[in-house]
Amino acid sequence: MAGWRALGNLIYLCGMQAEIGTDLARAAQWLRQGECVGIPTETVYGLGANALDRDAVARIFRAKDRPDFDPLIVHIGRLEDLDTFAREVPDTARQLAAAFWPGPLTLILPRRTLIPYEVTSGLDTVGLRMPRHPLTLELLSSLEFPLAAPSANPFGYVSPTTAQHVADQLGSRIPYILDGGACAVGIESTIVGFEDKQPVIYRQGIITREMVETVAGPTRLQVSASSNPKAPGMLLSHYAPHTPVFILQEEMDFHPQRTGFIGFRQPHGSIPVTQQYLLAEDGDMYTAARSFYAALRHLDGLRLEKILIELLPDEGIGAAINDRIRRAATLPH
Ligand code: TXA
Ligand code: MG
Repeated sequence: MAGWRALGNLIYLCGMQAEIGTDLARAAQWLRQGECVGIPTETVYGLGANALDRDAVARIFRAKDRPDFDPLIVHIGRLEDLDTFAREVPDTARQLAAAFWPGPLTLILPRRTLIPYEVTSGLDTVGLRMPRHPLTLELLSSLEFPLAAPSANPFGYVSPTTAQHVADQLGSRIPYILDGGACAVGIESTIVGFEDKQPVIYRQGIITREMVETVAGPTRLQVSASSNPKAPGMLLSHYAPHTPVFILQEEMDFHPQRTGFIGFRQPHGSIPVTQQYLLAEDGDMYTAARSFYAALRHLDGLRLEKILIELLPDEGIGAAINDRIRRAATLPH
């Protein structure tokens, strides 16, 4: 066992690929050494490191080429940690945590000074989330610190929903990826902040505005991009593959043989079937969310001239997926 570990360390130090596995002790060992580890969550894979260690956090930014103005979400393993890392927690936030944690919901709350500014990009708030994945929950409960973790993709690129996706993109920059299978949700968590104790949704996810309102009352949606976004996931260009993406419109100029298509339920009439990906033939929005990034990644891999994507019915989870489609798309929107 120790021999394998030593060999793993050596391979990593020689600049080879990250090891993929399910060894929690091994993941914990790297994290205690201040390294970054790929971690599964129910939404997308994260690039985790010790949230209380400035150097470990700096490594995340380097591995992702992430600009330092984009704050990280802190992943916690227990409900009580809400008060360990945040202060002035409004009742509405507690109600949301009780209703949806562990789960795909991030709460933006006033930060306790235990959380370094490196995590929050200098903000006095911190994003907290308890992920719903058995491996990562077990990992968190075995650690003495929470994990800062952005999605495990190079900044601006498509989010990873399998361990292999993480290895393909960041494998040469991190020592270990904890393999928890394909992500059950498939799109990033809903982000909720509070203004005068009233919830405000900054990023849409599968926990919809209606679901937030059922628990916490009237909620505003503030997801439009601005020059100084609260959440850079709100930047107009984000989540994008290398192949230019266009939203499907009636009148479009494209060469079918060199074009890919991502549709909701119905195939496209003139594009070859091998260049098409349907998100959910059964019309189920959860299936569509789960397939979305894998679809983008697959078609990007075909090295076509462009990818056309059809918008989904614009409500609930459909609106959350459409938000990602618009950000992945090249203008005009
Ligand atoms: O589902 C998820 O949330 C995944 C998994 C790994 O947990 N994580 C994720 O992280 O999507 P990331 O870094 O790709 O996106 C987090 C978003 C960023 O756009 C960031 O700006 C925003 O959360 N954020 C984090 N802390 C914030 C804060 N204090 N105030 C406002 N926005 C914040
Ligand atoms: Mg991200």
